[in-house]
Amino acid sequence: MNILVVGGGGREHAIIKKLKEDPRAENIYALPGNGGIAADAVCLGGSAADIPAVIAAARENNIDFVVVAPDDPLVLGMADALEAEGFLCFGPRKNAAIIEGSKAFSKDLMKKYGIPTAAFETFTDIDRALAYVDDCPLPTVVKADGLALGKGVLICETREAAREAVRSMMEGRLFGDSGATVIIEEFLTGPEVSVLSFTDGETVVPMVSSMDHKRALDGDQGLNTGGMGTIAPNPCYTPEIAAKCMETIFLPTIRAMKAEGRPFRGCLYFGLMLTSDGPRVIEYNCRFGDPETQVVLPLLESSLLEIMLAVSEGRLSGTEVRFSDQSACCVILASQGYPQKYEKGFPITLPETAADERIYIAGAVQKDGRLLTSGGRVLGAVAVAEDLPAAINKAYTLADKIHFGNAFCRRDIGRRALKALEGK
Ligand code: AMP
Ligand code: GLY
Repeated sequence: MNILVVGGGGREHAIIKKLKEDPRAENIYALPGNGGIAADAVCLGGSAADIPAVIAAARENNIDFVVVAPDDPLVLGMADALEAEGFLCFGPRKNAAIIEGSKAFSKDLMKKYGIPTAAFETFTDIDRALAYVDDCPLPTVVKADGLALGKGVLICETREAAREAVRSMMEGRLFGDSGATVIIEEFLTGPEVSVLSFTDGETVVPMVSSMDHKRALDGDQGLNTGGMGTIAPNPCYTPEIAAKCMETIFLPTIRAMKAEGRPFRGCLYFGLMLTSDGPRVIEYNCRFGDPETQVVLPLLESSLLEIMLAVSEGRLSGTEVRFSDQSACCVILASQGYPQKYEKGFPITLPETAADERIYIAGAVQKDGRLLTSGGRVLGAVAVAEDLPAAINKAYTLADKIHFGNAFCRRDIGRRALKALEGK
């Protein structure tokens, strides 16, 4: 089988490595891919959001199955376009990807179907939004409606900060047109859990839970990033909470999307907060998380290719999805300065990896036979072990054997999770 994976980060590297474990995966292509993915797939370059280029690449390489991993092409309708050309595709259609593409849509969906989430108001008029923040409870959360690279959320402790957030999104267009509509919502507290799930629109199968670390620096300080590390499973997510999420969030969401005529087929990501009043949805993503995927897929024992085919063909209920009961940790090595300005072009030296270690490359290019840094998040060092403390230790041991100029990582990935374990 010839497979095309659209995307070119650490998440896509993890997906490709897992797909390769199935003997049916003969040739794997990545568009664009990257210098590290090139060790595992034929990298075609180009842009993941370029729908005509992806269709042309699928034709040219006799592709049997396309996996669209990033949010922007899905929100733009790449899955629809591929299907219209007769290609079997993993990833939701445009009318379902809107669950991530518009927060106003997802908040209205949750309200309509009684799915627990933070109380909110939606605004398209700046004066009304400013009047609202003048007497809403503080802190308050101001969110841009559309895609903003995970950065369109501002938590405001003061009224002045809330006004400034509204102005910068609606007037200053801090996040471009994504901020033409804003959502202002109740501030919730509690541990956060990421649950990725496979769904064919009828059946939903949650994957092992995980925990992201979004801030750039130790102790959850510094700017928000795309994610500086992950652990799985998330110890805060007990079997009781999982059962409650299935009943109050996962199944109701799948049924709501179907009832709206927008069946969701692909990976639906539930970003949850475990509040004292029960689990609440913080966000939906229409795709695998990055770097959640880098800890979830190494724990998957069943064939990812088989599951993805089953999702795309609407036969997930009869398909085995089995996870190991081990733990995994991913430490992201980034370029100093990320998520702002950083230098690139430094050579990367990689150690040999053992069976329970993986290095997923996110931002690197090949030049004259060498691997050079080319991104903010450069790679993820991942280890699997019998429990979480051992996985964390092994991931840092691996990370410390990887070298490139201006590298930095957080040294406390998993610490919060270990604290939660101690509390049990
Ligand atoms: P989002 O892009 O919606 O996932 O938001 C990014 C981050 O902002 C989340 O992971 C939370 O840490 C935080 N956040 C979002 N919404 C809320 C909320 N209502 N209350 C508290 N924190 C929030
Ligand atoms: N790690 C968060 C995300 O993928 O959106």
